[in-house]
Amino acid sequence: MQASSTGSMAGELTEGLMGEAAAISPKFFYDTLGSRLFEAITALDEYYPTRTEASIFQAASAQIAAALMQTGLDHPCLIDLGAGNCVKAAALIPLIQPGQYVPVDISADFLKEAAGQLQRSFPQLDIVGVGMDFTSGLILPEEVQAHDRVYFYPGSSLGNFQPAQALRFLQNMADPSQGRAKGLLLGIDLVKDKAVLEAAYDDGLGVTASFNKNLLRNVNSLLAADFDVRQWTHVALFNSATSRVEMHLQACCDLTVAWPGHSRHFRSGERIHTENSYKYTKQGMTDLLVQAGFSQVRCWTDAQHWFAVFWAAV
Ligand code: AVI
Repeated sequence: MQASSTGSMAGELTEGLMGEAAAISPKFFYDTLGSRLFEAITALDEYYPTRTEASIFQAASAQIAAALMQTGLDHPCLIDLGAGNCVKAAALIPLIQPGQYVPVDISADFLKEAAGQLQRSFPQLDIVGVGMDFTSGLILPEEVQAHDRVYFYPGSSLGNFQPAQALRFLQNMADPSQGRAKGLLLGIDLVKDKAVLEAAYDDGLGVTASFNKNLLRNVNSLLAADFDVRQWTHVALFNSATSRVEMHLQACCDLTVAWPGHSRHFRSGERIHTENSYKYTKQGMTDLLVQAGFSQVRCWTDAQHWFAVFWAAV
């Protein structure tokens, strides 16, 4: 298991916290507890994306596998971006029979455990786990198979990028000089009713609120900061002008947070912006994939058109 350096994290966190409108990147959600809380979110009644995506994969599995095989794949290298618990790939592996599986995730310890479990289910499969923050660039170790690479980016994680960042990310994958990729299998959440979207990010059990607040615990440990999670409230709202669900943490009272070399005062009601989750239309995502350089784009969706799975060949 390779792990990335965490050296620059403190600088990035300080810059975000000291900005006029404070912000923390959503990648800091995923310490081990955050990864477990996210796993719990995916089982919530209100959080439809995971089960809807799974239902699309189940209903269209033969068509999806056929679309991939049409590109002449031979025991591809399946690169699973944001692999988490590796459960989604486990369903895909029997269908596309990869020669190698490369789960990549920022939460290296969580990934190590998940990859170990997957290895027990597929003892013959060559698994190369990579613990890294791939959002600013994907650098894979040398043992990763160079030919027939297929990127797998499910769960609408691309929606956590700004659209311009998402385009750059897709362009890198489609660029033939960047790693001989054959294509990308992508899951994307679609625009829908505001009430459905807001409930998905503010569930009745408060699991998403805990996930959001756990970010402050992680920042305390990364930055030696003194956030008190009890002083913050979870806020989730759909911004229809930008087509994104925003998550924020809102100060319940006037307070000051300190960490080595810095401090910041927050007025009661002031917010820290913690996540954007962009929602696309089918046409909007197809256009983005074509703009990024992918040639053929196929799309499958559920009966309610809540979520879409795309296969984009290079
Ligand atoms: C990982 N990502 C796609 C999730 C989302 O829906 O944007 C993260 C999440 N945030 C709150 N709930 C789930």
